[in-house]
Amino acid sequence: MSSFFLPVALSFLARYVLATPVPIVTGTNLPSNIAQLAGGGLPNQPGSPRVSQSGLGNFQLANFLENLESAFFQEGLINYTQWGTGGQTNGVSNMAVVSRIAAQEEVHVASIVGLLHANGAQDVAPCEYNFPTTDEKSFLALGNIITTVGIGALIALSDGLSTTDPSIEATVASIIPVESRHDAFFRLTANEIPNPTTFETKISAIWAYNLALDFIVGGSCTNLPSSITSLPVFPDLGIVGYGAPSFATPNAPGKLIFKVGQPTMLPQGWNSGPLYMAWVNQNNVPAYTPVTVDGDELHADVQPGMFGIAFAALTNQNTATNVDDLTNSIVAGPLPLPFS
Ligand SMILES: *[C@@H]1O[C@H](CO)[C@@H](O)[C@H](O)[C@H]1NC(C)=O
Repeated sequence: MSSFFLPVALSFLARYVLATPVPIVTGTNLPSNIAQLAGGGLPNQPGSPRVSQSGLGNFQLANFLENLESAFFQEGLINYTQWGTGGQTNGVSNMAVVSRIAAQEEVHVASIVGLLHANGAQDVAPCEYNFPTTDEKSFLALGNIITTVGIGALIALSDGLSTTDPSIEATVASIIPVESRHDAFFRLTANEIPNPTTFETKISAIWAYNLALDFIVGGSCTNLPSSITSLPVFPDLGIVGYGAPSFATPNAPGKLIFKVGQPTMLPQGWNSGPLYMAWVNQNNVPAYTPVTVDGDELHADVQPGMFGIAFAALTNQNTATNVDDLTNSIVAGPLPLPFS
């Protein structure tokens, strides 16, 4: 588990690392050869679906998240000019795969921008981003985290649309396996099996937003729509180390020591009652392990039996039975944790 934990530690540091922002190609100026680069361009169906007001708000958040993914891969692609052509995975050039991923993300952004405009809604401009990647390896590892967060958010988007705009659900569903192929590739580059779980883990739009903020330069987003600015922001949760499980059982993966990134953001009385670490993985009911506070350290056992990427969040209740109910009852987090 230890080496695979690296990106988590890195994502916690993201806010504190300075990087030079690169110009980002937005939906309105797609390269003319994009269909060739991406393996297909914008859908050519005539007209554009009508989307409800709440559906549009959800697509604005999707725009916000896809902007980040698109920037990450475009910046990585530029970095390949410094990293050389990079490594190979199963005889395929990593750079060739990343180049196609970058183009596909650009088309996703352009499709969402097109849908918003066709419905008279404001698109979401890219922000400036800080990614804590220093080389190809850390770039591909963070690609795994960012892509998994994106997939979890797309499942949430589909879920919302199934009530408000079922006619467009299939289009969103057609993006999810594309992202999953990207993710399978990232896992292979780390010598991890590409198919770790039976079900993907849905997260909430609010959690996806909070995770994206880790990579955004403070104050760099301009003119965000209220569907985004109204979302709650929680302090970051990071990992500072490992310990033995407090109850050693054969399948207990151990104890983790957490820290809150911005303690001043914690609400009054946050630790006046029992605290729990909530663990969200696949389609399971969130699991809770008790948290003990030691100075500014939070000690909690890892819930056994989790695969792929699980999401941990600090909370003061242990009764929420799904990620939507859990979303607003957290004190800090969420934090993505990769398991084999
Ligand atoms: C690109 O390289 C720069 C300089 O090393 C680094 O700061 C940045 O995080 C890298 N970005 C990505 C996405 O790899």
